[in-house]
Amino acid sequence: MTEMIHVEAQDKQAEKINLHDEFKAEVHAGLSKPRKQLSSKFFYDEIGSDLFNRITRHPDYYLTQCELDILNTHKNEIAELINSRAFNLVELGPGEGIKTKILLNNLLNHQANFTYTPIDISTAYLQELSTKIENEIKGISVAPIHGDYFHGLNWLKTHSNKKNVVLFLGSSIGNFDLIATQHFLKHLWQVLNKQDEVILGFDLRKDIKILLRAYDDDQGITKQFNLNLLRRINDELGANFNIKQFQHYATYNVYTGAMESYLLSKIKQKVDIAACQQSYLFDALEPIHMEYSHKYLLSQIEELAKESGFAIVKHFFDKKQFFVDTLWRKE
Ligand SMILES: C[S@@+](CC[C@H](N)C(=O)[O-])C[C@H]1O[C@@H](n2cnc3c(N)ncnc32)[C@H](O)[C@@H]1O
Repeated sequence: MTEMIHVEAQDKQAEKINLHDEFKAEVHAGLSKPRKQLSSKFFYDEIGSDLFNRITRHPDYYLTQCELDILNTHKNEIAELINSRAFNLVELGPGEGIKTKILLNNLLNHQANFTYTPIDISTAYLQELSTKIENEIKGISVAPIHGDYFHGLNWLKTHSNKKNVVLFLGSSIGNFDLIATQHFLKHLWQVLNKQDEVILGFDLRKDIKILLRAYDDDQGITKQFNLNLLRRINDELGANFNIKQFQHYATYNVYTGAMESYLLSKIKQKVDIAACQQSYLFDALEPIHMEYSHKYLLSQIEELAKESGFAIVKHFFDKKQFFVDTLWRKE
């Protein structure tokens, strides 16, 4: 396999220490807040990645089906719009890459000259994906970067002078709240060069019943996915969460347009985390906020493009108009 670049550490031991320390510090900070929270970026260890893949295959989780529909329908037009000269196709948090493969195969059919550069903090995902893509797509050039989105993008800025096309699919942008989204897009604009492009997936507002089903499926996979983070804290930070004493709860906030996921403590309890040398108290029914998934109006998306300095090239919708992949250019 092509060698993976680790942008936060030069050797494996240091990398492990950095990620472990970051995990420990963020868990402690999150559980010490008056409103407890855990960052959704830690969902994706090996088991979490596997559970997320199962969620994306569940019929209630419409998002993947919609984006597959968009990419299959519009892949030629997308290839024509982005394939002007040699470029890096950079993907932030690619996950399993089923959707990406549609674009990669199609770009090769268009004789595009590009390197595929996935950036992810999860080695589990990144290694599997890079090997799979190299094995399945003959002639592709893959240069994976292991690290945080912006560490990866900054590394690329100083090591490549090719045009960049950044993919941020699957509504991952919806995990940020509005302020964080504005910061993210401004930061993205700063790190990119003139004429670079981005393709962003936004989930659109829709019937709330459809949303509630997507984030609390009837097989309980989303529940397991959320509880898995407590199991990960037990295993990696020496904690004693009794997972049976927490319950998954998903709700829609009509003001912010966000699906919100929580784990509620079923009883009053104390949890010790050895690595943090701390105990954390939970009241009965006290929530831990786990994840936002913001749903957008098209007008809000266009406003975000405008205020962050990008020009909208084109919106691509699925047949149900549930989801949009929007192509923007830095001008
Ligand atoms: C929801 S999953 C995959 C989503 C995928 N884009 C899709 O369309 O299905 C999110 C991925 O982003 C990665 N990730 C989350 N936060 C990250 C960060 N700050 N920097 C780098 N990778 C991150 C996770 O490790 C995971 O692989």
